[in-house]
Amino acid sequence: MKILVMNGSPTAESRTRGIAEYAANVLQEKGVEVTFFDVGKDRLPLYTGDTAEQENEAVRKLVKAADEAQGFFVCTPEYHNGMSGALKNALDFLTGAQFKNKPAVITAAAGGGKGGINALNNLRTVLRGLYSLVIADQFVADPLHFNDERELTEELATLRVNALIDQLVDLTKLVLSNSKN
Ligand SMILES: Cc1cc2nc3c(=O)[nH]c(=O)nc-3n(C[C@H](O)[C@H](O)[C@H](O)COP(=O)(O)O)c2cc1C
Repeated sequence: MKILVMNGSPTAESRTRGIAEYAANVLQEKGVEVTFFDVGKDRLPLYTGDTAEQENEAVRKLVKAADEAQGFFVCTPEYHNGMSGALKNALDFLTGAQFKNKPAVITAAAGGGKGGINALNNLRTVLRGLYSLVIADQFVADPLHFNDERELTEELATLRVNALIDQLVDLTKLVLSNSKN
């Protein structure tokens, strides 16, 4: 099973990346083949629709990883009640061809309080536009869920992410077994 984990935060010191790295480690411990795309490190151009963009190294990496993925674990920061512009820009390089009938988990890093839910609603709507099977359960991390190195360490938060990973693995297995019949 191949899962693409996406960090949707462009910042150098990112809590969103902490969720994505935690998820990638747990998936790998379960024997899942993980690819990792990080919009803060794999710098994409701004999507313009120009076909020359398809030759960009980061665009090629993203499209290949999404083509090959059988499921997605997508992490976004909440910026002004939505997903990051950097993640939306990355998703604009992709189409339903990469997402159709593939399960996805969505998670967010937010500023605390009631933050995060709007970013997840926004991301869920966009992934629906890409025909992904977005799992109903989701997770928002507050700053207090991370240590000083921005690793996701708070116990209940890690248990929530573990549970989401179990759902992602189970649903991806189900879809794969049905598609072989
Ligand atoms: C431009 C900007 C807008 C933000 N807007 C929100 C918001 O609407 N709701 C919220 O809960 N947190 C908001 N925050 C806080 C971030 O979600 C929080 O710092 C999160 O950790 C950012 O992810 P990152 O650490 O991966 O960059 C905002 C932060 C920035 C920089």
